[in-house]
Parts: sequence; structure tokens; C-alpha cells
Amino acid sequence: MVSASAPGKAILLGEHAVVYGQPAIAVPVNQVRATARVVPERRGSGLTVDARDIGRRVPFDAASPDDPLGAAVRHTLAHLNRPAPDVTIVVSSTIPIASGLGSGAAVSTAIVRALARFLGVELDPAAVSRLVYEVEKLHHGTPSGIDNTVIAYEQPVYFVRDRLLETFHPGAPFRLLVADSGAPSHTREVVAAVRAGWQADPQHFEHLFTQVGQRVEAARAALDAGDVPALGPLMDQNHALLVQMGVSSPPLERLVEAARRAGAAGAKLSGAGRGGNIIALVDAHSAAPVQAALLAAGARQVLHTLGGV
Ligand code: MEV
Repeated sequence: MVSASAPGKAILLGEHAVVYGQPAIAVPVNQVRATARVVPERRGSGLTVDARDIGRRVPFDAASPDDPLGAAVRHTLAHLNRPAPDVTIVVSSTIPIASGLGSGAAVSTAIVRALARFLGVELDPAAVSRLVYEVEKLHHGTPSGIDNTVIAYEQPVYFVRDRLLETFHPGAPFRLLVADSGAPSHTREVVAAVRAGWQADPQHFEHLFTQVGQRVEAARAALDAGDVPALGPLMDQNHALLVQMGVSSPPLERLVEAARRAGAAGAKLSGAGRGGNIIALVDAHSAAPVQAALLAAGARQVLHTLGGV
């Protein structure tokens, strides 16, 4: 039996603006992962994807073209120029669905890697990322590509759509709490809503995107210099710009406010928004009180993750 796994992700700064060509920074969240195991079956039984967690069993032959589980298999086999082997791919994930943590991209990444490995090929992160991007289009319509990139590379990435991909090592580790509002974040719909806003008032939205890009560049410089405290105000400013884009919501605002009041150096929604997660920048002292405040303010789950280690 062969298996592979992939982490969740959090956008540190730059979501939405990244769809319009601004830079963004994302980090892997290793505390939650998707896993795919390839189990050989008897001859002639075909390939089945068994996603037990979500109660789905998808025979590859019968998968509809827009089924993401089937598409991850299809793109991998086409890339390797191989027929479907007789196997069951058992998928499981601890990444909450529709939470902004990249569960779809992580499941696809695990499937692509595990199936290629079963067929004797170790795909490099660039190839995995390209294949997963094709699947992401089914989930999201017009993805920037940052989710599949950070998940396939499993390192902090500085990303400009279609132009630049840099993995980098921050000069000092930083500690994030990732708090789930429990409300779903439907990336496709929220990205479409931002697009409608941009079409209605391009000047205003371009201005917001540019300002986000400036915060991202400043954050990259701060991270390179190991100046973690400088990151906090930049996250706060990025959140304010996301509020102006219309992608926050009362539960997200409650969590962001609670984190700041309890001592976080900065806090913002992360991912597409309207629901999903917020991230809060903490240190060894503020982590516990901020976590307690987030839970008291309604967070379903709080993950601790260290970036740049
Ligand atoms: C979703 O994780 C990030 C968005 O910027 C969409 C994208 O980049 O494709 C909202």
C-alpha cells in the first residue's frame, strides 16, 4: 500500500487582491492534513475513490467530469499517460471543509501524489501544483493558484498570479492561532461577489487591491528581516481592507475583535471570508489568553501553528 498526505493552508495576507495580480503570502498549516492511501484491488475491479469522511464513494469510470475527486485522478493519469489501475484510493482529512484552510486543494494534492507514487513516479511540487490547479478550477472558477501552490510546496510562499512564485524562510518564527468561525466560507461565491463589486466600481476596488499589495510587500520585508511584531499592524490593515471589500461577517468580526482585545499583535480573516477562519498573531505569552478569548467568542476550533520554523 502507498500513501501520501498534504497540509492545510492559511493566507497570511493578500487574499482576493491576489486574484487581480497583487502579491500574497500563504503558509502551510501542518496541524491538519488530508491523506490518500492507494489499496490494490483484484484485476478488473477498476479505480474507486473512497472519501469516507464525507460519505462519498466515486467509481472513476462513472465520475462526472466536474467531480473534483474524479478530476484529480483523471489529470494525474493523463499527465503520466497511464490507464487507471485496479485500486481503491481511500481519502481522509482532518481539515475542516469550507473553512478557508484549503481542504479541497489538500485532498487533491494527496490523491495526485499517492496515485503517482503507486504508479512509480515521485512528482515534484511544481507538477503536483499544476495538476491540482486544474482541479481547483472546478471548485473555484477563477482561482489565483495560491492555494494549490502553498499546499504542494508545504512552505511559506510569496506569490503573484502567473508571474512569481517564491518559497521563503522567514528570518524568525511566528506563531499564529487559526480560529474557525463555524460558518461556511464558499470561495466560489465570495470570489464572484468581489468580482461583481469590482465590475460595478473598478476604481474603488483597484485602489483597495493596490493597498493590500503594499501591505503584503511590507509584510514580506518584515518577515525577511525577522521583524515579527511589524506583521501585526499589517494584518490589521489588511483586514480593514477586506472589510471594505465586503467579505467579512459578524462572526468573523467577533473573533477578530476578541483576539485583539486579548492581546494578539494583529488579526484578520483568512481565505475567501464571509465565514471560515480568522488568524491571530500571538507570542508565547498571549497564545493562551487569546485562544480562551476566541473560544469564548464562539470559535469552533483553534489551531496553533508556527510559521517559519
Ligand atoms: C482563497 O484561499 C484565496 C482567494 O484569494 C481566492 C484565490 O486566490 O483563488 C480568496
